[in-house]
This record gives sequence, structure tokens and C-alpha cells, in this order.
Amino acid sequence: MTILLTGGAGFIGTHLTERLLAQGDTVHIIDNFNDLYDPALKRQNISRHADSGRVHVHEGDLCDPLLLHRLFQQYTFDAVVHLAALPGVRSSFGQPNEYYRVNVLGTQHLLDMMRAHNVRRLVFSSSSSVYGETERQRNSELRNQPAPISPYAQTKQAAEQLCQQYAEEHGFAINCLRFFTVFGPLQRPDMAIYQFLRRILTHQPITIYGDGNASRDFTYVTDVAAGITKALQHWDGFQLYNIGSGTNTTVAQLVQLMEEATGNKAQLTFNTRQPGDVSHTWADLSKASQRLTYAPEVSLAEGVSHMVTWMQMMLL
Ligand code: NAD
Ligand code: UGA
Repeated sequence: MTILLTGGAGFIGTHLTERLLAQGDTVHIIDNFNDLYDPALKRQNISRHADSGRVHVHEGDLCDPLLLHRLFQQYTFDAVVHLAALPGVRSSFGQPNEYYRVNVLGTQHLLDMMRAHNVRRLVFSSSSSVYGETERQRNSELRNQPAPISPYAQTKQAAEQLCQQYAEEHGFAINCLRFFTVFGPLQRPDMAIYQFLRRILTHQPITIYGDGNASRDFTYVTDVAAGITKALQHWDGFQLYNIGSGTNTTVAQLVQLMEEATGNKAQLTFNTRQPGDVSHTWADLSKASQRLTYAPEVSLAEGVSHMVTWMQMMLL
């Protein structure tokens, strides 16, 4: 297949590209190398694929009116995977307009261009954050209605709705995947596991937002990449799928696991719970496992151990 991948220089995009290459696919990446974190890291990510000869990088903004038009004219894509976005729940309060521009208008622009050039298969990266505040129980695509509590989560819900509209009105096949707190080597530096591990390994204090009882379904990044490739093989109008690990861990338990994995004691500081942070996320995987044959393989302990190895190399 020839895939157009937006946001392919980022964390999840880099792991996905490796997987697509291993399957024999060709990947065209659009990325603007934004400075939400060090763009040099994203250039390093891209350089990992240099030898393949099957990764083509088109640097620019998703919202640029000409870039997508030119690409769709020049190449034939079997499907689009749309990962480009401003991610992060907490940081979205600082620049809600920019989150809206990239995450909602960017998605609208992509859908319009796909329609104009008759490419009608899309995998969209949505987020567990759309579920909002729930009890500590599994979030289901069927039973739980979205109730976002941050600008970021609102943009993801709005983009899902656009996807549904294009599927229903223009015959697109769209799989919206709700990823649950993804971790692994190359992780975004704003995220908890990256911050905690780096600080525990260098004997610096970590900051826990709230009392440590917030819980997440932490999902290893190669499982997410596998989920995306499964979604690229199963098309059925507009579909929502949870892509998680199916397990749930509190932040306090996560820290304990990192202490075991590193052999270092964490120095804890506490701050108030942050706006936009939900208390719990936990993926119900019934639909993804039945329809996509999605089955996560890497446990949190195993994934953290891979990350320790990676981070130790980075810190050298
Ligand atoms: P990331 O920031 O590492 O990757 C996003 C990439 O998109 C970056 O390389 C960035 O430069 C690019 N980008 C941003 N705006 C762009 C624009 N206007 N034009 C072109 N490129 C642009 O983030 P990630 O963690 O890899 O997340 C990928 C996607 O998955 C995002 O849509 C995110 O919202 C979603 N998601 C991530 C998680 C997670 O836990 N990491 C969970 C749920 C959903
Ligand atoms: C993550 C991603 O950042 C979002 O892009 C994504 O959409 C979301 O997952 C999702 O699942 O949809 P989040 O769950 O906030 O968001 O991920 P982390 O930053 O890893 O935070 C996990 C938990 O650790 C949260 O409870 C957070 O409050 C806490 N945390 C984070 C801390 O206690 N201290 C920190 O320094 C960082």
C-alpha cells in the first residue's frame, strides 16, 4: 500500500512508519516539525527510515491550502492515517485557538482534499480523553457518550464528528481510533512516564498531580501501531474503536513499578490535580478485538523496562 501519514515525524508516527515499512508499504509523511517539543528529535525520528527508500517526507503545515492538493495530484494513496495534531490535555488550556485550528480545521481541510481527489479511506487518531470524567470502569465506544472536559478533548470529539459526517454524506470509510495514554521509546517529553523515568533515573523529584489515585490505561506504542495497521485492513463505513491495553493502573502504582524497574527510590512532590485531567481511563477492547482482531501484547511492566533501557542510552 501507499499511505499518506500526517504527523509522521512524531512519537506514534515514527513507530507506525517502522511497522508499515516492515510490511512492505510506502509512506508519504506530512509534518511541520512544530516546536511543541524539540523539532530536532523529530528530524532524528525521520532519519531512522533513511535507508528504506520508501519514506517520502513533505515538510509543511497540514492546513496549507496548496500542500495537500499538490500531494494528492502527484501520488495515488490507498489510505490516509491522520496523526498530525496538537496533543496533550493540560497544555491545550494555554492555546485553545491553535488546538482548534490544527485539530479541527486541519482535519476538515484533509477530508475536503481527500474528497476532491477521491481518496476515501481514513484512520483518524482520536483520544480516550473524549470520554471525560468516568468511574473507574471500562470505557466503551457503545455505552459511554463523549463528555470532554478540556479544549484538546473537545477538538478530538469535533474531529470525530466531522469524520462521521464525511462517512455518511460522502461515502468515506473512516476508522476513528481512541488511543489510551501511549508510552514507549520516543515518547513525547510532556507525558508522565517520560517525565517520571527521566527524573527517577537522575535522582530528581517528580511531581504527581492530585493524590496518586488517578488511573490510566497505559498502552505500549507498538501495540498502538499494530492497531492502526489492523484498522487499515478493515473498512466498514464510520467506526469508533478503543485502542488501549485493557488494563488500568494508578499513578502511584506506576511510580512503584518504575522504582522496581530502575532500582531507584522516587522523590515525590505533589501538586493539585490539573484542569482537563480526568480521574480514570480504561479501555473496553471488545469491539476492537472482535472486528479488528486487535490484541495488545506488551504489558506495562515490560514496556517500562524497554523505556528504561532507551532512556539510559539517551542520558549517556
Ligand atoms: P507528536 O506530537 O509526537 O506527533 C504529532 C506530529 O504532528 C508531530 O511530529 C508534529 O510536528 C506534527 N504536526 C502537528 N501539527 C501539525 C500541522 N499543523 N501540520 C503538520 N504536522 C503537524 O504526538 P503523538 O503522541 O505521536 O500523537 C499522535 C496523534 O495521536 C495525535 O493526534 C494525538 O492527539 C493522538 N493521541 C496521542 C496519544 C498519546 O498518548 N500519545 C493518545 C491519544 C491520542
Ligand atoms: C495522554 C496524551 O498526552 C494525550 O495526547 C492523549 O490524548 C491522552 O493520553 C489519551 O489517552 O487520550 P494523559 O493521560 O494526560 O494524556 O497522559 P500523561 O501526561 O502521561 O498523564 C498520565 C497521568 O499522570 C495523568 O493523571 C496526569 O495528571 C499524571 N501526571 C502527568 C503527573 O502526575 N505528573 C506529571 O508530571 C505528568
